[in-house]
Amino acid sequence: MAITIKSNREISLMREAGKILAEVHDKLSEIITPGITTMDIDRKGYELIRKAGCQPSFLNYEGYPASICVSVNDEVVHGIPTDGRRLEEGDIVSLDAGVIWEGYHSDAARTHAVGEISEESRTLIEVTKQSFYEGIKKALPGNHLHDISAAIQNYVESHGFSVVRDLVGHGIGSHLHEEPQVPNYKPVGRGPKLRPGMTLAIEPMVNAGDWKIWILEDDWTVVTRDGSKSAHYENTILITEGEPEILSLDCMNV
Ligand code: MF3
Ligand code: CO
Repeated sequence: MAITIKSNREISLMREAGKILAEVHDKLSEIITPGITTMDIDRKGYELIRKAGCQPSFLNYEGYPASICVSVNDEVVHGIPTDGRRLEEGDIVSLDAGVIWEGYHSDAARTHAVGEISEESRTLIEVTKQSFYEGIKKALPGNHLHDISAAIQNYVESHGFSVVRDLVGHGIGSHLHEEPQVPNYKPVGRGPKLRPGMTLAIEPMVNAGDWKIWILEDDWTVVTRDGSKSAHYENTILITEGEPEILSLDCMNV
């Protein structure tokens, strides 16, 4: 399947999906506190998504058993919520969620502090978020996809952290995962040219230590090999004639 250029109608639906997802994330951020379980977060996420009239796109996606990926500390992404895992003061937790509105997807992730966290963890969360913004400075028509990738990698590495290489961002639209892949490091070649109407999920995954990862026995949870902490930040964006539009942020919370 080639990279799709979205029509105005499709863009409107993705805007609505993104707005709903931004609100889901805002509401979930309010419940992050020591003592809650990762399953509490999933339950709340499911409820918020359904109340907004959307479907949770991750639920049953290739067998994934929950609506929200909840990844704590050295878990990079795709952590599976459970009743047994309680968040503790000092943890960092990334929440990744996807919604479908009238057949169109939005995908976004945020990493939160649980109570008071270390200086290094705070920096890790900030650098991860900022690397997304550094990346989208290059998300201009006529630039190439890997300009975004290189900007993310350079920013992260200039802070002494590393970007996960085995997992990438992606095109998004009527499917959660569409072409192209969006790496967070500079691969060989420049990648496709960016054109107005392309919609991308850009999602840096940043490790405090080495970039290498393992996948746990559950076949989902991705963890850092060296046990260092990892943060994730993601938004769905639209390439326009000018500056990119971030679809999965509400304007109240930039
Ligand atoms: N944001 C992630 C991604 O784009 C999460 C989806 S994985 C799922 O791959 F299986 F949980 F859906
Ligand atoms: Co994604």
